[in-house]
Amino acid sequence: MDTYQITETKNCAPVFELPEPRMSGGMPLMDALQRRRSHREFLGGRISDQQLSELLWAAYGINKRIEFRGKMGMRTVPTAKNHQEVEVYVFLPSGIYLYDALENTIKLVCEGDHRASAGNQAFFSEAALSLCLVSDFSKMDTYTEDKKAFYSGIDVGYVSQNIYMYCASEGLATVACGSIDRDLLHKLLMLKDARAMLSHPVGGLEIS
Ligand SMILES: Cc1cc2nc3c(=O)[nH]c(=O)nc-3n(C[C@H](O)[C@H](O)[C@H](O)COP(=O)(O)O)c2cc1C
Repeated sequence: MDTYQITETKNCAPVFELPEPRMSGGMPLMDALQRRRSHREFLGGRISDQQLSELLWAAYGINKRIEFRGKMGMRTVPTAKNHQEVEVYVFLPSGIYLYDALENTIKLVCEGDHRASAGNQAFFSEAALSLCLVSDFSKMDTYTEDKKAFYSGIDVGYVSQNIYMYCASEGLATVACGSIDRDLLHKLLMLKDARAMLSHPVGGLEIS
């Protein structure tokens, strides 16, 4: 494990091991629900590797290592037929990475600072990082095209809400953004039978 903060460094590596996420604690659920809000201003403050690990775990991590419907590991979110078709990409200063929840790592997909490309609004370049939620339709092969479009949207919504809840609990700013350049993202992420659904910039929150 590198000692520097992967959330801040410009150096990229093919694989980063994330610190073990704390899977307990945080703000009481009802308090976090009270605080959940969309924020579009991001302070320059840091997000630690520990927070990144916990953000990803809250969003789409493994909360039970059992096999069910052909998948090893159950998630912090439900997915239709347990397809687990959502993929979470992390836009950091050093590159774009793909979250591997079973291994608790992020894997390099594309080098360089592409944070401004995660969404169409100017605040994406101010956020410490962004998560892009992608639906991998190749993992929903038992569904018709209609069902893929319908259920993938619902499944991504759960991941988005978990991101909101973790950010509320940690005092971080985020907003779900559907206004994204899908053609650009599909090229950057080299997507084939998949669709970029939502992006979530995440950063420091101004206390008002
Ligand atoms: C599917 C979805 C897409 C959204 N897309 C955008 C977006 O592209 N840009 C943006 O600034 N906010 C976006 N939002 C945030 C909404 O504008 C926001 O949730 C709404 O105004 C209610 O505010 P609140 O989240 O603070 O309760 C989106 C929200 C959802 C659920």
